This record gives sequence, C-alpha cells and structure tokens, in this order.
Amino acid sequence: MRVVLGVSGGIAAYKSCALLRRLITAGHDVTVVPTAAALRFVGEPTWAALSGNPVSADVWDEVHQVPHVRLGQRAELVIVAPATADILAKAAHGLADDLLSNVLLTARCPVLMAPAMHTEMWQHPATAANVETLRGRGVTVMDPDDGRLTGADSGPGRLPEPEDIFAAAMSVTTQAPVHGAEADMAGLSVVVTAGGTREPIDPVRFVGNRSSGKQGYALAAVAAARGANVLLVSANSGLHDPAGVRVLHLETAAQLQQAVQAAAAEAHCDVVVMAAAVADYRPGNVAAAKMKKDSATQDGITLQMVRNPDILTSLVRDRRDAGHPFLVGFAAETGDDDGDVLAHARAKLKRKGCDLLVANDVSGGETFGADQSTIHLLSPEHDEIETVGPVTKTETAHAVWDAVLRGRTAR
Ligand code: CTP
Repeated sequence: MRVVLGVSGGIAAYKSCALLRRLITAGHDVTVVPTAAALRFVGEPTWAALSGNPVSADVWDEVHQVPHVRLGQRAELVIVAPATADILAKAAHGLADDLLSNVLLTARCPVLMAPAMHTEMWQHPATAANVETLRGRGVTVMDPDDGRLTGADSGPGRLPEPEDIFAAAMSVTTQAPVHGAEADMAGLSVVVTAGGTREPIDPVRFVGNRSSGKQGYALAAVAAARGANVLLVSANSGLHDPAGVRVLHLETAAQLQQAVQAAAAEAHCDVVVMAAAVADYRPGNVAAAKMKKDSATQDGITLQMVRNPDILTSLVRDRRDAGHPFLVGFAAETGDDDGDVLAHARAKLKRKGCDLLVANDVSGGETFGADQSTIHLLSPEHDEIETVGPVTKTETAHAVWDAVLRGRTAR
C-alpha cells in the first residue's frame, strides 16, 4: 500500500521511526513527509534510510512533479504521527502552508492522526474543537495515551505506542470501502458491547473481571468494515476506538444496561451483540469514602453482593416484535461435573432465549486477552454446532456476522 507518513514537530517524532519500520516490514511503500519542525527532532537521513524512499519535506522540492498535489492524490493511506496541536488546527481549518498540510488537503484516502502534546494543549477547547471537526469529517484521530510526557509532566497527551498506531492504521484501511470489503451489512444498525464491567466497592476499589474487550472490538470493527452503522458500548477496555464506530465508554453493569436498552429500543436497531462480560453481582453498599483498615476489619471483611439484572434476558423479554432486534449472547464456559462446554452452552442458549449464542472454552484460562480463539456457534433453529478456529478475533468476528446474517434471513 502507498502510505504517506506525516511527521509533525514534537519530541515523539523519534517514536515514529519505530512506526515507519513496522510499516516497511509489513511491505508498505512509505514516503515520509516531515514538517520543518519535525526535522529539528529527527533528521532527513534517518527517514530516508528507514523508508528506502527520498524524503519529501518541501513544496519547493522537485516542483516539476507537483509534489504538493501528487503525494496526497496517490496515497492509499495517510498517517500523521505525531500530530501536534498545530497540524490538527491546520488540518481542521484547511490551511496549506507546507507540504504536509497540502498532502492533507489533496488526499482522498483514509487519514489517521495520532496526537502527541502536553495535556494542557490536548485539553484546550481549541484543540478539542479541531479534533471534533476532523472526526466529523471522517478523519480518524486517535486519543493520546495517558502517561509520562516530556520533562517531569505526565497526563493525557503521550503518543500512542507505535504498535497501536500500526494496528489502528490497518483497521482504518480495512474499513475503507475502496479496499474491497464486501459491504453486505450496509443499512444495518448494530450495537456491540465489549469489555468487562467494574462494580465499585468504594471510590478507589472495584470488583471486575478479566475480559480484554478484544472480541467485542473486533466485532465492531468488522461490522463497520462490512458497511454497518455501529455503536460500541465499551466497559473498561484499554483498546483504541475502532475507526468509523461510535463508542460509548462506561463502567458498571447498571450503566451498560441503561445504554444498551436505550439503543435497542430505537426503531432502527437491527442487532445487539452482548460480548461484554457483565458482572452477575455487585457490592450491595458502595462506601462513599475510601474504606480504611481499622481494628474492626483487621481479620478481614465480608462484602455483601447483590444480584445484577440479566441484560440479555431483559432484551429478549423487551423486544417489540418477533425477531427484532436480533439478539446474540456470548458464553465463556468451562466443563464440569454437570456437563462439557457445549452442554452448558446449549443450556444457556435455551435459558437466555437469544437468537445466536457464541460459546468459547475458557478451561485453559488463556482465552482472556488472547489474539486467537476458537468459538462455537449455537442457534435455536438447528442442533448442529458450527466451530470456528483457532483463528484471529477478526476472523471469528466475520464468522459471527455471517451467522447473524444467515439467522436474520432464516426468520
Ligand atoms: N449477560 C447479561 N447480563 C448479565 C450477565 C450476563 O446480559 N447480568 C450476558 C453476557 O453479556 C453474555 C451472556 O449474558 O452475552 C452470557 O453471560 P454469562 O456470564 O456467560 O452468563 P450468565 O447468565 O451469567 O450465566 P453463568 O454465569 O451462570 O454461566
């Protein structure tokens, strides 16, 4: 793929060398377009040597080839990393006073921007408005990481890790319709939940679970790539928001229930996939202040847990008319004396009353956070169980959506 890697002037420019390496190793043809300020941090020879291409830094270089137009027109992907507050502002307002801003105006391909700046600059209303403008126009602007910044400061504003930028870049391009993903979900509105809920004990502690959110995020990304309108309801996942997907971030089972029920009740909601690990119980009393160790608790404490509502079951109960929305449940199961994984999954499908159940075997303990998985697809209509894997979560996501589309037509 022909990639333009724009580098604007921040100290994090050195990290883009690792991103460039990653892109080259993956076989992409990368032209680096550093701004004048970026070249004060990392010099032209470094970019040229790592990319294997001449560096384009100035609109006045090789004018006969009209680089300010040609580079953007030919690009299949533009990444700007780091993206400073200044380049975000220029891009939002359509300024074109250097080569990189010209490329951003002429590119018609997916554009990914990975911001890096001090927290004050990132949180300034001007930057926030520019980011909103760019996102509204279809540019993928990643959220910066939270952590150590230049000097002694720390907070949101750190450049996301090169590997995360690379992953976001790949997901941006798989979602571009020009790259051949079949848009067989165009016109469908889907809701996907992901991650694991956290149930507070006091202002600093919670009861949680090991769900990474990877499967739910892959389901959301794949649905968007296949043309669906996607709302991702994400509980405590540290993953980057997939491109082209509306994301709601929340924490507890109660918040998740409220968000999902509101979304499912909308007339245009076609499918709800409950991939989130929802806590079955929450502490009955949440302490308003941080709980202290004292003589009364030195031998231990007892947490009184109360039952959370079952969201999937209530969605099944609430759906307005037969088969709408189509409801998908997930089940992370282990075998025990009462039956194997598939027997438990079958019983759960019946108990929940959903239209499709995606089961996986977590007996080995390694499924949480793993990049590959095996899933079993169970539907109330037939007895056979389709098994897919071990494959990547993107591939299992495709298999789940294939089963959803089949299930919807069968109704
Ligand atoms: N689920 C839900 N609300 C809950 C618990 C689970 O909507 N309070 C959903 C999950 O998102 C998942 C499915 O129900 O899609 C199955 O979750 P799981 O935890 O496996 O099922 P439980 O009903 O909790 O059954 P058990 O823990 O007894 O196996």
